[in-house]
Amino acid sequence: MTSRYAATYQSWKDDPLGFWETAASEIDWSLRGAQVFDPDQGQYGRWFPGWECNTCYNCLDRHVERGHRGQPALIYDSPITGKQASYSYEELLDRVQAMAGVLLDQGIQKGDRVIIYMPMIPEAAMAMLACARIGAIHSVVFGGFAAAELATRINDATPKAIIAASCGIEPGRVIAYKPLIDAAVEQASHKIETCLVIQREQAVAALQEGRDHDLGALMQEELAEGREVECVSVKATDPLYVLYTSGTTGQPKGVVRDNGGHMVALKWSMSNLYGIEPGEVFWAASDVGWVVGHSYIVYGPLLHGCTTIMFEGKPVGTPDAGVFWRVISEHSVVSLFTAPTAFRAIRKEDPEGKLIGDYDLSQFRSLFLAGERADPDTVNWAAEQLQVPIVDHWWQTESGWCMVGNPLGLGRLPVKPGSPTVPMPGYDVQILDDAGHPLPANTLGNIVVKLPMPPGCLPTLWNAEQRFHDAYLAEFPGYYKTSDAGIIDEEGYLSIMSRTDDIINVAGHRLSTGAMEEVLATHPAVAECAVIGIADKLKGQLPCGFAVLKAGVEQSHEEIEAELVKLVREKIGPVAAFKLAITVDRLPKTRSGKILRATMRQIADQESYKMPATIDDPAILDEIAEALQEHGIRVPN
Ligand code: COA
Ligand code: AMP
Repeated sequence: MTSRYAATYQSWKDDPLGFWETAASEIDWSLRGAQVFDPDQGQYGRWFPGWECNTCYNCLDRHVERGHRGQPALIYDSPITGKQASYSYEELLDRVQAMAGVLLDQGIQKGDRVIIYMPMIPEAAMAMLACARIGAIHSVVFGGFAAAELATRINDATPKAIIAASCGIEPGRVIAYKPLIDAAVEQASHKIETCLVIQREQAVAALQEGRDHDLGALMQEELAEGREVECVSVKATDPLYVLYTSGTTGQPKGVVRDNGGHMVALKWSMSNLYGIEPGEVFWAASDVGWVVGHSYIVYGPLLHGCTTIMFEGKPVGTPDAGVFWRVISEHSVVSLFTAPTAFRAIRKEDPEGKLIGDYDLSQFRSLFLAGERADPDTVNWAAEQLQVPIVDHWWQTESGWCMVGNPLGLGRLPVKPGSPTVPMPGYDVQILDDAGHPLPANTLGNIVVKLPMPPGCLPTLWNAEQRFHDAYLAEFPGYYKTSDAGIIDEEGYLSIMSRTDDIINVAGHRLSTGAMEEVLATHPAVAECAVIGIADKLKGQLPCGFAVLKAGVEQSHEEIEAELVKLVREKIGPVAAFKLAITVDRLPKTRSGKILRATMRQIADQESYKMPATIDDPAILDEIAEALQEHGIRVPN
């Protein structure tokens, strides 16, 4: 089949507003405005100003009203607890109304923020949809973050309530959430009025009289009463959620997602990019704490009338590297979306893909990868094993949906290894040099998107208009800066080469080395420090911290290194995967005092590097290489 991609992309270029107006007809609006886009509102314009809608209505009610009440909406598959459950659209709607009723009874109203701190259980999706139903703004915090990170988000989002579960479960350990929440609430200057807790049998939480409530019990009461809660009509431009993501400092960025444009973009992507029909089963093996979980575990599949999978497990070890194939065959999944690291983990355990043969994957059509670079080796292995198209696609928390990909729904384009393919409609992706000049094909530079950003992308940062402007719009006027570097070839294929800031990507998780440095610097023995991301076969990158100690410190270096590892785990959380701290005498710097992190990374990654002309003392690079070697990192001679 010839792809309709070129014609579709051109139709967007010819008439961007008409393109998105047509896409908007797939959404049910309570009020259609006169204008599709207002260039004068917000930082770069706003989509669907004056339009009104409700995201929960579009995800649930309209499917029930149109005869799909019995269709499975959400399947919970939890190999880590041995549990499974399936909720039809009607059952999910009932539970979401019950939870929305509880929220209303607790005084939560339109525009209030609600933090959701939950593992991969159905109630996490219900909580998001319940907030959407009443016009409250949710902010999901990933369970692998520590109390201090939660406290930062509480202070920034100033929520009225926290919705939580009593625990999360990782292989070999139960993580009690309530002590983490209590510590975060204690640390935060903003005070929380209500904490609603789903009690799980693995660790039942003690509830504080007055503030804490058993959410499961309250929902049961609402369900027994058949509580109905109307969908609150909100402006298309009102925030649906705030999702915090790593910035270059310890203060995370609160990415704001609006209601209207988000629905339009996700609905468009389900058929045109992912090639999925309503009624089919779509599985994003991510976590609701990440953007992939927001867009493609919860909102995208439900907007499209699909069945989504909530998977509480890991690609390996729950119980083995065949679990993905089991879930795909058992629930007739047509398309899987995950991070390449999951496939690297599976391949490591089952290099010949023997476990795949144990399952019937005849319904399975495609695998989508994102979140980090999809190395051709892993992509080729997956293609050989699964015999389906493997689609790498590139996006960010900020965009909320794919910026560059291979649109299966429009007809698959030829694949070039290492490239996520071509821009989606809405994205005019360009490569600029540092001074903002366009670069010719095949030349490495800053990847930018010509403004305006399409529907679904962030309009701003929560409580931080100026930071939004400074971080994304100021450096290249008229463009959105992605902070990725790459090239576009003569056929318009993009390749992502690296980040241009100090963000690293660990197992598909986005982390800030700057934030880790801030934590290391709080250790009383540390005079100065630097954190870099070094290449790792499984997780893509792993953080590695270097610390110079203050004069006169008597504690052993091994002890301090262990304390630094512990400190990052305590302050940022286990998700940082910070396991390597190295004490050194000096850090390599330029004569003006800038730490040469890039050169340190090149040494650790065994890449050839040019001696920086401005280096203060080249001998320090040898000291770094030696220190890495002593800690088991092989470096070139
Ligand atoms: N709550 C608490 N702790 C968590 C957690 C959560 N929700 N998620 C991860 N952690 C912990 C892990 O248990 C681990 O702890 P440890 O240091 O005690 O072992 C640590 O955080 C690091 O986790 P992770 O980097 O995920 O490593 P892992 O060894 O547990 O698993 C993979 C490795 C590859 C199997 C896993 O990273 C994976 O499935 N990745 C898929 C990527 C993905 O979903 N990306 C999302 C964007 S699409
Ligand atoms: P996040 O906001 O967590 O989704 O991380 C976004 C960042 O992950 C991007 O800016 C890229 O650096 C990286 N990334 C995401 N998808 C890809 C991809 N397909 N190829 C290469 N890098 C990617």
